[in-house]
Amino acid sequence: MTASSYAKINLGLKVLGKRPDGFHDIISVFHEVDLADEITLSPSESGRIRVTSSSSNAPDGPGNLAYQAADVLRRSVDRPELGVDICILKRIPTGGGLGGGSSNAGLTLCELNRIWNLGLPNDRLLDVAASVGSDVPFFVQGGAALVTGRGETIQPVDSTGDPVIVLVDPGFAVSTPWAFGKLNIELTRSSPYIRFLNSVRTSGQVDLLDLFSLFENDFLPLVGARYPSVQRILSLIRESGALGASMSGTGATLYGGFARASDAQEAADRLQDQGYTVHLCRPVRRLSRS
Ligand code: C5P
Repeated sequence: MTASSYAKINLGLKVLGKRPDGFHDIISVFHEVDLADEITLSPSESGRIRVTSSSSNAPDGPGNLAYQAADVLRRSVDRPELGVDICILKRIPTGGGLGGGSSNAGLTLCELNRIWNLGLPNDRLLDVAASVGSDVPFFVQGGAALVTGRGETIQPVDSTGDPVIVLVDPGFAVSTPWAFGKLNIELTRSSPYIRFLNSVRTSGQVDLLDLFSLFENDFLPLVGARYPSVQRILSLIRESGALGASMSGTGATLYGGFARASDAQEAADRLQDQGYTVHLCRPVRRLSRS
């Protein structure tokens, strides 16, 4: 079977503190967008997991998070005879804060639970997902979620509003461990963004057009100080009429959300003229896949 493995963007990201396990507690809204890899899974009982990817930036074999997801899943049910061939057609840029590898792993868990007939309930699938990577549980759920903990605690939310999102690859990559390591954590436990997210937690609903006007990303000053092109790209997006512009995750993908498709297209054209790779996309909403 073949399925779409969607990218996500972080609609804001605050780091709340360092944890005893070395990770950081965060708060963010994750939202899937319709930029997607295509994954084909062919199950077998050969005991062999094979992963091939169309991009040299995403590894074949055991280095791929989809491989690790399949392996952890069959171990968790003690079924070493289970095998699968996984073919990934990559469209999501790698290393850009769009969660491509985690998305592939989340989709692999959901689909193998079905086609290997494991029947694991959602909460067990989420535990397996968290052991593969901090962002993987979100992709088991999909859609939109308020995300806390080290990234593995997810509260699905209903989102409204349908902005056109312009994603921009600024031409450099940011290492996640580097970004967390360099961050000067100010213990800001209250801000308009955090107060807004507390109301989202209570209501279970988020209006994307509101969120775009007040989100904050703690990594933006850090990455912007190192790469001057960040401010130039964000200014261009804002001048084109965006509701808001920011960076996804720890970077480096930058984005803007637009109420009007014509403004989004104009921003995309101007950025492409300057040599940047750009994707236009929309939010994805759906019920749990598992
Ligand atoms: O979980 P994941 O593999 O994405 O994390 C990569 C690295 O990013 C971790 O090893 C850690 O250094 C850092 N990280 C963190 N706090 C988080 C998520 C990631 O410090 N909440």
